[in-house]
Amino acid sequence: MASDVQTNTGKSAALGDIILETRNLTKHYGGVQALNDANFTLRRGEHVAIMGDNGAGKSTFVRQITGVETRTRGEVIFDGKPVHFENPMDARNAGIETVFQTLALADQLDVPDNLFLGRELVKFRLGPFSILDYKAMRERTIEALEKTGVKIPNIRGTIERMSGGQRQCVAIARTATFHSKLTIMDEPTAALGVQETAQVENIIRTLKEQGEPLILISHNMRQVMDLCDRIVVFRRGRICANLDIRNQQVTGEDVVAYITGAKTQPEYSDAA
Ligand SMILES: Nc1ncnc2c1ncn2[C@@H]1O[C@H](COP(=O)(O)OP(=O)(O)OP(=O)(O)O)[C@@H](O)[C@H]1O
Ligand SMILES: [Mg+2]
Repeated sequence: MASDVQTNTGKSAALGDIILETRNLTKHYGGVQALNDANFTLRRGEHVAIMGDNGAGKSTFVRQITGVETRTRGEVIFDGKPVHFENPMDARNAGIETVFQTLALADQLDVPDNLFLGRELVKFRLGPFSILDYKAMRERTIEALEKTGVKIPNIRGTIERMSGGQRQCVAIARTATFHSKLTIMDEPTAALGVQETAQVENIIRTLKEQGEPLILISHNMRQVMDLCDRIVVFRRGRICANLDIRNQQVTGEDVVAYITGAKTQPEYSDAA
């Protein structure tokens, strides 16, 4: 189970049982077949990259898992149980922390409020009333942001006044602050500078050391090769390759060939 993973990081052999599985997960937007019959599994402790061209269906896949949208058909099994999350907060409460590509932050709130939304620290409770511990939330926010390396001059400013990179780091700081059963990051470093990207990659390495599973959507080959155990390639709404990059010889050119459709793994030949 999960505890086995924490003492044996990095090697596929040490991975735990399945934390997430999708069966025939499908999403059509009217006539647009954005996602078709995605069969996907992720083990505890495993870091899997999802790659694919723009419009391949990667974010759609994430949205069906995390309750942003209602799937057309298919099953999602999380932590051993079939799930139908009504909204992202539901998924979060079940233990899935997601950094969405179009960031799901509350624009009118400041950084600590966003970090602790739904998980406010309480100083004390008196019957139905509770006094929130703002000081502790501010301190924990500063600590979390330091881990991402991004500079936010005033954490009490509202999110709507921040740059794309700053927003992205607030969302990543949130995932790094709370232990979750599964973390999903959809292009987390797309808007970040070199230094901030390196810091975020360190956060991802820490998740790996802690045995926390991750789905990382990224167009950055170097990042994926460095950080992940496996690459799942999406093409035109279908999975077309599943590449074990820790135990098999897989080059960047191979991955690009799957992404562009020059190659398809035989077991996914329907996707061609
Ligand atoms: N709400 C929507 N209504 C209609 N079509 C949609 C909707 N959302 C996505 N699509 C379409 O579904 C397909 C998959 O989109 P998706 O956002 O999943 O791509 P992606 O792989 O995440 O791409 P990118 O790398 O650019 O983020 C695209 O053709 C897109 O135009
Ligand atoms: Mg996307």
